[in-house]
Amino acid sequence: MKKDLISMLDVKNDLEKIIDDAIEMKKGNYEQLMKGRTMAMIFEKSSTRTRVSFEVAMEKLGGHAIFLSKNDIQLGRGETIEDTAKVLSRYVDVIMYRAYSHENMKELAKHATVPVINGLDDEEHPCQVLADFMTIKEKKGRLEGLKLVYFGDGDNNMAHSLLLGCAIAKMKIKIVAPRRFWPKEYYVEMAKKLGGEVEIEEMSEDAARDADVVVTDTWVSMGDEAEKEERLRIFKGYTVDSNVMAKAKPDAIFMHCLPAYYGYEVTKEVAHGSQSVIFDEAENRLWAQMAVLKWLFE
Ligand code: CP
Ligand code: NVA
Repeated sequence: MKKDLISMLDVKNDLEKIIDDAIEMKKGNYEQLMKGRTMAMIFEKSSTRTRVSFEVAMEKLGGHAIFLSKNDIQLGRGETIEDTAKVLSRYVDVIMYRAYSHENMKELAKHATVPVINGLDDEEHPCQVLADFMTIKEKKGRLEGLKLVYFGDGDNNMAHSLLLGCAIAKMKIKIVAPRRFWPKEYYVEMAKKLGGEVEIEEMSEDAARDADVVVTDTWVSMGDEAEKEERLRIFKGYTVDSNVMAKAKPDAIFMHCLPAYYGYEVTKEVAHGSQSVIFDEAENRLWAQMAVLKWLFE
């Protein structure tokens, strides 16, 4: 059976192995695992990191990637996802898809006969969380037992994938968000079912207490633009600044998947400060995805 990476749940049994492979690959230990193989990358939304890191990952592994903007292919004119999946599967060996809808993501994976990788949709961003966990392991030497505190939009793709990822990695997670933006019940329940230690709160003076890792993400994800003004108003007070970082452990690291909007979810002082690992995190998208490709074709 083909493997897909649609949700963090897909790597439930292999998370540490993928991360360890990624760390090894970063040292230069990898082979031409994708030689003769082609990846189609369908983008419905903008991307800097996902697009470039997948393209470079394929090249480093001896393969080739094709960038397909939704509007340039017939999908944008109404060709079905089913037919797109069936046709692309005749040409390429793996499909990476950045979509608005998680339902469409699952539909593509259902009809493709080749592996499908979720390059972000409205519910999850598993590639990012794999790179994040690789970064945490590089910096802290382990995952198990660490505490991650996430501030801001608790109902977005990053929050959901982090909830599942932390449960799988046996990390504690706290989501600090306005009640309206608490995570979808499904992800909280699933994390708890996996044995995860999950806390959710609106905000407190000591919200970042005991955090080994402080994380945030944009308050206005791609697709949420119509609510921008309202969101900026509701999230006011959730900015990760030096006061928030001062409550975390002294050796806590700051993470953000990027792109960042300084002065909103984080100050530039924190994002470019001594505790921040955001550019290592961005780099690690490349190595983590190379390890994902290895895992998909093993
Ligand atoms: N973090 C992330 O997925 O970045 P891009 O939107 O630039 O791909
Ligand atoms: N939550 C953000 C992540 C961007 C990489 C978004 O979906 O826009």
